Amino acid sequence: MRIDYPNFHRAISLFLLSCIPYIAVSQHHNVSAGYLPPSDPLVQQNLSEWQDLKFGLFMHWGTYSQWGIVESWSLCPEDEGWTVRRGPHAQNYFDYVKAYENLQTTFNPTQFDPKKWADAAKQAGMKYVVFTTKHHDGFAMFDTQQSDYKITDPKTPFSSNPKANVTKGIFDAFRTDGFKIGAYFSKPDWHSDDYWWPYFPPKDRNVNYDPTKYPERWENFKNFTYNQIEELMTDYGRVDILWLDGGWVRPFATIDTTVEWQRTIKVEQDIDMARVAKMARSHQPGLLIVDRTVPGAYENYVTPEQQVPSEPLDIPWESCLTLGNSWSYVPNDSYKPARQVIHTLIKIVSRGGNYLLNIGPGPDGDWAPDAYDRLKAVGEWMALNGEGIYSTRTVTPDAQDRVFYTQHKDGRNSYAFLLSDDDSDLLQLPSTLQLTLPGGKPVKQVEILGLGKVPFRMKEKIVEIVIPNNKRNHVNLRYAAAIKLSH
Ligand code: GLC
Repeated sequence: MRIDYPNFHRAISLFLLSCIPYIAVSQHHNVSAGYLPPSDPLVQQNLSEWQDLKFGLFMHWGTYSQWGIVESWSLCPEDEGWTVRRGPHAQNYFDYVKAYENLQTTFNPTQFDPKKWADAAKQAGMKYVVFTTKHHDGFAMFDTQQSDYKITDPKTPFSSNPKANVTKGIFDAFRTDGFKIGAYFSKPDWHSDDYWWPYFPPKDRNVNYDPTKYPERWENFKNFTYNQIEELMTDYGRVDILWLDGGWVRPFATIDTTVEWQRTIKVEQDIDMARVAKMARSHQPGLLIVDRTVPGAYENYVTPEQQVPSEPLDIPWESCLTLGNSWSYVPNDSYKPARQVIHTLIKIVSRGGNYLLNIGPGPDGDWAPDAYDRLKAVGEWMALNGEGIYSTRTVTPDAQDRVFYTQHKDGRNSYAFLLSDDDSDLLQLPSTLQLTLPGGKPVKQVEILGLGKVPFRMKEKIVEIVIPNNKRNHVNLRYAAAIKLSH
């Protein structure tokens, strides 16, 4: 996925469109191209509320966590780093699939306590959650009636636990803590006979037959998908975001051949998003729909993955990034330091985006201790500095060297964040600091959050801040300092 500065990119695209048709096609999709702002006022409202939240929790959890492997992908017959099969069944694909599917019969996350997660995430300053209700492997982490490949099936030991419907437990606990609720749902389903028809072996991540040649089978798949999504939209209380992954399930005409994985799509895989969206919003008015990588009416915001755009984007966006190295639980995964999480959050927010930070719960139903540790440290920083994060929008300049700017959406206050060095949690402030006036607006008062007001003078387009010695090494200065400029 390319990340480009949209206006510049649009200008380039227009120019190229006018001269070389081939290149024009290849320039067609970047994350911003083709974005269509929602027209439904309730969706607009939800989207702008969501843009105020800035920081969310992502969780990838399924039976795969028992093997501590990459989520789902080892089932995919493509030869990639993330599809490698390991263990006693690795030498025979079909044996492997059986053993993988058999993980259903041992999944028993007895430590599952969604309130513990919600409280930790809330304390960290997170405001929304997105949970994998079903990943590509097709295992439903909710009580679907469309399949018995689900956590609530009697074959799964955890089904007899009163908390077996983990999606419900997670959504309820986080909603109680004031979170917006997001359902991750994979459109492709590698367990469904109507997606990977057993008549043919699976070939790659895509449907393994031609839906235009076998329209009834595809129709079954469309209905199955529709019905599962309808369950999620009706039985789980208020849902704010439907986060649809598996962008290869898409109308053929929308394929962007400049994106390598999209070139593998050989057949039509239209699941009729208009019908899905109409149903979903009839149950959940104002629902945000994120049909990832399929620009148009059903991609209400864009979702760069494991990367942060290098410049502000003028459309709603969210970077999803892992706290460890993996989306799913891997034993002894190494978690990024709190400092890096906070620096990333500041960069994302100064560029107008949201940060969806992923933690993979383990097979016992809990997170690794390091995850709690990181969230606690992030929360301590947010408690002092969060006002410069939430409900802000981009401002010019967005950054200068290691200073990143945000502005509250009401325009009354701007914030300049000074980052600590990349290898140091502590930071020392200079005795004087010159900042460009955000948005060119004069400043009436300057305060370092957590440290109090400081003297300043205005010099044309600059505000010069004088930092008293007793504040320069203050104990509250960790990871990043937020300087509040009141206009
Ligand atoms: C990547 C992974 C997929 C994961 C997604 C989250 O695409 O392959 O498994 O769900 O990232 O954004």
